[in-house]
Amino acid sequence: MSIHQGDFIQLAPTLPQGQASLAYIDPPFFSGRRRRNRAPGPSYDDRWPGGLAEYLAFLRALLSAVQPLLTPHGVLALHLDWRAAHHGRLELERLFGADAFVNEIIWSYRTGGGSKRSLGRKHDSIHVFAAGPEYTFHQLREKSYLAHRYGFKNIEIHEDEQGLYTWAAMRDVWEIPALRGNQKEYAGYPTQKPLALLSRLIECFSNPGELVLDPCCGSGSALVAAKRLGRRVLGVDSSSDAVALAIRRLSECDA
Ligand SMILES: C[S@@+](CC[C@H](N)C(=O)[O-])C[C@H]1O[C@@H](n2cnc3c(N)ncnc32)[C@H](O)[C@@H]1O
Repeated sequence: MSIHQGDFIQLAPTLPQGQASLAYIDPPFFSGRRRRNRAPGPSYDDRWPGGLAEYLAFLRALLSAVQPLLTPHGVLALHLDWRAAHHGRLELERLFGADAFVNEIIWSYRTGGGSKRSLGRKHDSIHVFAAGPEYTFHQLREKSYLAHRYGFKNIEIHEDEQGLYTWAAMRDVWEIPALRGNQKEYAGYPTQKPLALLSRLIECFSNPGELVLDPCCGSGSALVAAKRLGRRVLGVDSSSDAVALAIRRLSECDA
């Protein structure tokens, strides 16, 4: 296990270059708030007095610091929401080239709350870009439910409690519940991501034994998911609370 506390942008040159197969980046989202679930408790700052220009300078420096750490077959996955996902994609296009785009994964969830002046904003975007043309990709499968059996020839049809289905190549829209406070994996970290989401991403874009990097690891969700799937892990976070939590969660994987 290798987890470091500090500013990733400063630390990156001291980390092993060209060795990460997958970098999962879940930075502050430009929410304009201090993120804390309850006080006292871990928190991180997502306020940018210099506005969007300051945030984009941070994002650009972060992504530029990750790039040299990737292997030639490596993949970078940038997780943001409606506030900055479009800026993130443009930054990635500048860095890797538009042809390096692999997927925009939509993580769809059904948390409470919403606006009276817009549709519920209930998805995040994970932009996936490849470091080179031979990037790692494993096609995953999902159940595709059918309204009826009629018209399907030479396709194996199965049935479960929800009805008839076939196995189909996985789409880029992932309906996965957001974490709730009463779930066993919930560690109390603000904006903590579910293991189910990260496990799917890691299975899709890396191989067992390879290195998964999380430069803004928070409570270590991606690292825990990666370790459970037999990957090696490298995490960084600027918050000492986050690093302590990530170390604890990872050591519990060994138990
Ligand atoms: C969205 S949270 C990550 C949540 C994490 N994926 C989880 O599931 O717990 C963003 C994290 O980025 C960290 N962070 C912000 N700026 C950073 C920097 N320059 N270097 C490293 N970590 C940073 C924050 O402390 C925070 O933990």
